[in-house]
This record gives sequence, C-alpha cells and structure tokens, in this order.
Amino acid sequence: MNVIEAIESRISTRAYLDKPVGKDRIKKLLDAARWAPSGVNTQPWQVAVVQGEKLRQLSDAFLRRAEAGVKPAPDYAYYPGEWVIPYKARRFRCGMDLYKALGIGREDKEKRRQAALDNYRFFGAPVSLFFFMDKALGKGSWLDMGMFIQSVMLAAREYGLGSCPQASTADYPDVVREKLGVPDQNLLLCGMALGYPDDTHPVNQYRTLREEVDAFTSWFE
Ligand SMILES: Cc1cc2nc3c(=O)[nH]c(=O)nc-3n(C[C@H](O)[C@H](O)[C@H](O)COP(=O)(O)O)c2cc1C
Repeated sequence: MNVIEAIESRISTRAYLDKPVGKDRIKKLLDAARWAPSGVNTQPWQVAVVQGEKLRQLSDAFLRRAEAGVKPAPDYAYYPGEWVIPYKARRFRCGMDLYKALGIGREDKEKRRQAALDNYRFFGAPVSLFFFMDKALGKGSWLDMGMFIQSVMLAAREYGLGSCPQASTADYPDVVREKLGVPDQNLLLCGMALGYPDDTHPVNQYRTLREEVDAFTSWFE
C-alpha cells in the first residue's frame, strides 16, 4: 500500500472482528511510527498497549464510572467550552452521520447513550493503545504526539488493521494510570482502538466529508 492509499483509506473504525492482533504486529506499527519527527528529536511519546484481561478491567472501570454519573476529568480540554461556526456545524454533521449509519433516530436517547458508551468498550476492538507524554514538556510536543499517533494509524493500514483515535478513553486518566501503573507525571492524550475491521458493519461503511483544498488554502507567489 502506498502512502496516499494509506492516508485516504484510514477511517475511524467503530466495529471490529473478534480476532486478536499479534504482539509482533503491534510492535511493527510502533517500530515504524517511532520515525515520526519531533522538535529537537525529543520523541515525547510513551505508549501503553492494552489487551486481554487488562482491557476488560479498564472497560469495566470506565463503564462503572460513566453509569454512576462520574463526570469525566481528562488531563486537558480537548474540545472548546463553546462551539463556534464553522466547527459547530461540522461537529453536528459528524454526529448526525454517525447516528444515521447506526440507524439511531434523533429522539432515541437510550440508543445514543449506548453508542457513546461503546467508546468505553473500545468498539469491540481487541487492543487499545494509550498515548502519554511527560507533563514537563511544552506545547510543541503535542504536535509531535499527533504526528506519531497518525503514523501508527497509517502503519496499521499496511497490515489491514483499522483504528479509531479516542479522546473518550482519556476521560478518566487516573483510572488508566492506576490500572497500568503509569506515573502521575505522564499526561494521557488519548486512547486508540485497534484491530481488524468488521467491514460488514454499517458503522464502518460511511465516510466523513472534508472541505476542498481551496477552502482552507491561500496561495502566494
Ligand atoms: C484525537 C482524536 C480523538 C477522537 N476521539 C474520538 C472518540 O472518543 N470517539 C469516537 O468515536 N471518535 C473519535 N475520534 C474520531 C473522529 O470523530 C474522526 O476522526 C472524525 O469524525 C473524522 O472521521 P474519520 O476519522 O473517519 O476520517 C477522534 C479523533 C481524534 C483525532
């Protein structure tokens, strides 16, 4: 698969086959992604690969908290407190298209709640990666982390693996740190569901839209 194909075929995969991903395969993704650039080669990334019983424990802990109404307390605010145009409209469309693919109507609050909770089940993926960086680092390292995380997702395409970056699985970072023995000094950026996609599931068959290049590019000569 060439790079353009990998970029264009990556989607957020939200249904997975019940098929394990070998440790050697996961290692290969990380082995490729470590070549991502980072300011003065800081390589800020720290990754926890979680599967099996540990993943079930994390899922249970997230679901217990969510069901008990414990408010998420992420290490940082990923989204703005107030949404403005055009982001507000894009966010709305994103949610609408997802619910449509899942066959969930606007009024069906319980099904929407369950769909949101599916995040805490990692959408049935056999693996979740968690991405951390040292709190001592600066804002620039967040760029490096983004490049690393996208590199993991693109490398996954080479092996027919699907992924979904998940801010939601960083909702309760203290739970993740405690269960995985990660020091408080490590900030949790996000999780990522990883596994073989269930291509027959409708949720994997729609594509989000993008603005055309001309909508976000200015050319100067
Ligand atoms: C850092 C990050 C966090 C995300 N968190 C979630 C999440 O918690 N749950 C989810 O279903 N999708 C999540 N997404 C996926 C986005 O909704 C998705 O990337 C976007 O709608 C574009 O769709 P595509 O990835 O299929 O191209 C996240 C994406 C990014 C980059």
